[in-house]
Amino acid sequence: MEFKKNILCIGAGYVGGPTMAVIALKCPGYRIEVVDISAERIRRWNSDSIPIFEPGLDEIVKQVRGKNLFFSTEIEKGIKNADIIFVSVNTPTKTFGEGAGMASDLQYWEKTAHEIVEFSRGDKIIVEKSTLPVRTAEAMERILKVGNRGRRFEVLSNPEFLAEGSAVADLLEPDRVLIGAHQTPGGKRAEKELVDIYAHWVPREKIITTNLWSSELSKLVANAFLAQRISSVNAISALCEKADADISDIAYAVGSDSRVGPKFLNASVGFGGSCFKKDILNLVYICKTYGLTEVADYWEMVVKMNDYQKRRFVQRMIKEMFNTVAEKKIALFGFAFKANTGDTRESPAIYVTRKLLEERAFVSITDPQALKNAKEDLRGIDDRVTYEPDPYKAAEDAYAIAVLTEWDEYEHLDFERIYQSMKKPAFIFDGRNILDHKKLHEIGFNVYPIGKTSFTHFD
Ligand code: UDX
Ligand code: UDX
Repeated sequence: MEFKKNILCIGAGYVGGPTMAVIALKCPGYRIEVVDISAERIRRWNSDSIPIFEPGLDEIVKQVRGKNLFFSTEIEKGIKNADIIFVSVNTPTKTFGEGAGMASDLQYWEKTAHEIVEFSRGDKIIVEKSTLPVRTAEAMERILKVGNRGRRFEVLSNPEFLAEGSAVADLLEPDRVLIGAHQTPGGKRAEKELVDIYAHWVPREKIITTNLWSSELSKLVANAFLAQRISSVNAISALCEKADADISDIAYAVGSDSRVGPKFLNASVGFGGSCFKKDILNLVYICKTYGLTEVADYWEMVVKMNDYQKRRFVQRMIKEMFNTVAEKKIALFGFAFKANTGDTRESPAIYVTRKLLEERAFVSITDPQALKNAKEDLRGIDDRVTYEPDPYKAAEDAYAIAVLTEWDEYEHLDFERIYQSMKKPAFIFDGRNILDHKKLHEIGFNVYPIGKTSFTHFD
């Protein structure tokens, strides 16, 4: 079949994979190739067990793979054939040198830019899909201009707002698509090409076009705002525990104001995920670079408050269990950074486990999707850890359960049975406020939710 255009995506990760699968589904006239340096990842994308667990993704990949969606490791060939190249390689926080712990590590990204220059034969549109510091496109353009031998590279910014666990739904019905382009005739032409792709299924009024820098910065700010809501509600949850107020009632009362809105106000053990912390620290670093100390400090507090919430959660566990968890088995219900994903990047469960191990507890971890990643995260420190797919077995002989991920199935467990199998007094620390606390108390548990009065059997 003759295809209208060839799209290449470099980086077959959480963002690149699902995004290209949905574009392939909605744009049968485009040929889409996804390449990655990891041969193992590509092998899995071409197998029956794709490397990412996302509801609905499997079906879409099966429908389009081999028709207009292809996965390979042939980066050079991919670049040569492509009209439009999406760059979706990872941009982790730098762990070394200038800006360590804050700035983005752009080495993969820069390497990719060099490869594009080296292997390109004709003009190309380059789309930044990775979240990048503001004005990164400028750096990419500099690299692309060196030795371009008369070829034109037009750089666009098209940040991805999908959330894990709902990636397919977010891609099929996005709140908005954001495209940043240079406000030049060439920039506008490239912008139109990308708008045309999304317009196959996204209403035109939801496709926002801006200049490049606004688009890059919007992505960082969107994540910073979302994380800030969680840190705000978590800050108040600490006050609620002192003041006999209920954080769920407060979140409902506050969120009912249509100016605030009800979403993203669930108090928790803390936010995790690959983006929030990384993007806020990146924003903080950029502000510092421009000498905007107060602005940097303001946003950094969002991350500090999140660290406080995680720390507070473990400290409370230890304090309530008579100031010691040494030699006690503690069951962690959930290890993923949120429900419906196997991803554990920056999961609060990692911090909680480390702290419990430091206190010499035995930790039994259960999770429907994330045990494989949990083993990776705890490699080398897990001689007192067991990984147990069955939550009933995980809780056997435990002194306490800590709910760290809001998996639906935890709400429907037989807690009578669990209580019988545990050591007494039995504790539950509900880090997601998903359980029926009154009922658990009636069963016999001592129950500690987040931001609510605890229910105990002690005087
Ligand atoms: C990544 C970025 O981390 C994020 O900032 C951005 O918003 C979207 O892209 P994600 O897809 O979650 O997010 O990252 P990851 O799952 O790690 O996937 C990146 C892929 O790029 C990996 O499969 C990696 O092997 C691949 N890669 C990395 C390359 O193909 N070439 C490289 O040079 C480096
Ligand atoms: C986020 C953004 O939502 C998405 O737009 C962006 O593209 C990538 O980063 P993601 O990290 O997949 O997506 O998950 P998200 O649903 O935002 O949750 C992040 C963390 O916040 C999770 O640990 C979640 O449990 C926590 N959270 C979320 C809360 O603690 N309370 C809430 O009310 C909502």
